[in-house]
Amino acid sequence: MCGIIGYVGMENAVPVILDGLKRLEYRGYDSAGIAVLNEQGFGVVKQKGRLSSLEKLIDQHPIDGVIGIGHTRWATHGEPSDINSHPHLGSQHRIAIVHNGIIENYQQIKERLQQKGISFVSQTDSEVIAQLAEYYYTGNIVETVIKTANALEGSFALGIMSLDEPEKLIAVKQDNPLIIGVAEHGNFIASDVPAILAHTNKVYYLNDKEIAVLTGSTVEFFNMDGEPLHKELEVVNWSLDSAEKGGYEHFMLKEIMEQPKILQDTIHSALSGDNAKIIESLDIAKYKKIVITACGSAYNAGMVARYVFEQLCRVSVEVELASEFRYKDPIIDRDTLVILVSQSGETADTIAAMREAKRRGAVTLSIINVVGSTIAKEADNTIYTMAGPEIAVATTKAFSAQLVLLYLLAIAFARKLGRISPEVEAKLVADIKSIPNKAAEILERVDSIQKYAASCVGYKSIFFIGRNIDYAIALEGSLKLKEISYIHSEAYAGGELKHGTISLIEDNTMVVAISCCERLYEKIYSNVEQVISRGAKVLMIGNCIKAAPGEKLEVIKIPAINELFSPSLSVIVLQLFAYYVAANKGLDIDKPRNLAKSVTVE
Ligand code: AGP
Ligand code: GLU
Repeated sequence: MCGIIGYVGMENAVPVILDGLKRLEYRGYDSAGIAVLNEQGFGVVKQKGRLSSLEKLIDQHPIDGVIGIGHTRWATHGEPSDINSHPHLGSQHRIAIVHNGIIENYQQIKERLQQKGISFVSQTDSEVIAQLAEYYYTGNIVETVIKTANALEGSFALGIMSLDEPEKLIAVKQDNPLIIGVAEHGNFIASDVPAILAHTNKVYYLNDKEIAVLTGSTVEFFNMDGEPLHKELEVVNWSLDSAEKGGYEHFMLKEIMEQPKILQDTIHSALSGDNAKIIESLDIAKYKKIVITACGSAYNAGMVARYVFEQLCRVSVEVELASEFRYKDPIIDRDTLVILVSQSGETADTIAAMREAKRRGAVTLSIINVVGSTIAKEADNTIYTMAGPEIAVATTKAFSAQLVLLYLLAIAFARKLGRISPEVEAKLVADIKSIPNKAAEILERVDSIQKYAASCVGYKSIFFIGRNIDYAIALEGSLKLKEISYIHSEAYAGGELKHGTISLIEDNTMVVAISCCERLYEKIYSNVEQVISRGAKVLMIGNCIKAAPGEKLEVIKIPAINELFSPSLSVIVLQLFAYYVAANKGLDIDKPRNLAKSVTVE
């Protein structure tokens, strides 16, 4: 889950790498480090903690060179510490590496090398890569990397430098992402595109078991037999602005505010752009069942989508946590369409679910934000959310884009299945097209949500309730709040309260109730009354609320819309609520503790 970057070119690698690391820090922030290679050998500066500490350390101990690698870590093996920080060097200081991933057989390799007298300094799995490459070094770094990579089990994206071939930066990957960037002044390797957007938008996407060899002016590719490979240079259409804060205090707030625009782009693409062609090519009548599988917020998007698909298509939909999917012996076959939802396209559990689905003969369709990511490449079909780079760990705009894409997919399927008339379809599409403007209306009322959220920072627990599709979006409201504000939170279907949870309601408990299903208003309001009578304070969010605010009840109204698409509006209030609660607590909103943006380990 860490971020890696490497540079070789005409400029001093240190500021270039530091800038790239800043843009990768959302991927992990336990420690950071840089290694450069110059006439004196390797210069390494690395430290536990945030990148800002590393910058200070580099000011005190300057290093420079025109070739270097950098790392920002989310520790998997070995505590976050200076010594466990990357880059790691072989004991002869002839090879330096940065690693994203997990080496599963590191213990065996370590013991083997220790028996040969090689001593290790860190507790990481990653150090074995540097030690093994140094041990294997044949006088040819490409040969050496092939031999080393062949000995590694697990996942890795690697940046490698060799003292003996100081002009070359080597990259290789298996199951973790790596791109190669080509700029005027030099060449890059990086975990993702935003890290290098300030220098170039021209990239090669490295596939598993491909090796890239970069010098300041050349990029070559090889397969694991050492044979040259031809790859196409691609142009990324993300702008640098979209990967910068642009005056906002946090990426999360900026990304919330971008939603009207990215919703419009995603809707357009699904109705008449590239996504439309793929959606049209899917023969939904072939499938008896749809399974949606994903993690975290993407799973919550699937939970919302289930209501929409089932209601419009009358096809049975299962929603599975990707982390559980492969262990449950899923009942899927060639008659099942498996939909994978992922912002990053690199979530290890979702990748594993995709592979399991394919293994069992199901057809896979992925909904992905990051072009060229593993799931996007491996799924049978891929449609893209047009959210642009999402930097904050807590997803907002990518989630919203997933929702509208799923709605439009459900409408297309319903049409193909003959379940809706052209008139109904036109009305549903018009409802979806109204979402961006209605989202903008909510965003104009940020102040009132901010003010209310400020009064909620003291709660120890905040419950979210809803019924039907409101319950599905309550799950996302609760996840958003807990991940960035560290306030304990759970989401429940309103009718479930009385089966256990209501025993937790007392004075000083807060409940957020979503109410956009008019036909169920009386039901959810009765849940609200039940919790108020037990001491809770309630915030109701919705478009069919009849109750007036009072001492124990606050109401935030949102524009009217078809109940099926209402999660796209209620979620904006939920995102802003979570954001302002966390902001009022003075927390590090874009990088919440213990989390990382893309979870590339199981
Ligand atoms: C959401 O705010 C979380 N950070 C997390 O639950 C996320 O949605 C999950 O890890 C899935 O990531 P993906 O969309 O990149 O697959
Ligand atoms: N397994 C390595 C470590 O713990 C890399 C972790 C990562 O990919 O973030 O240092």
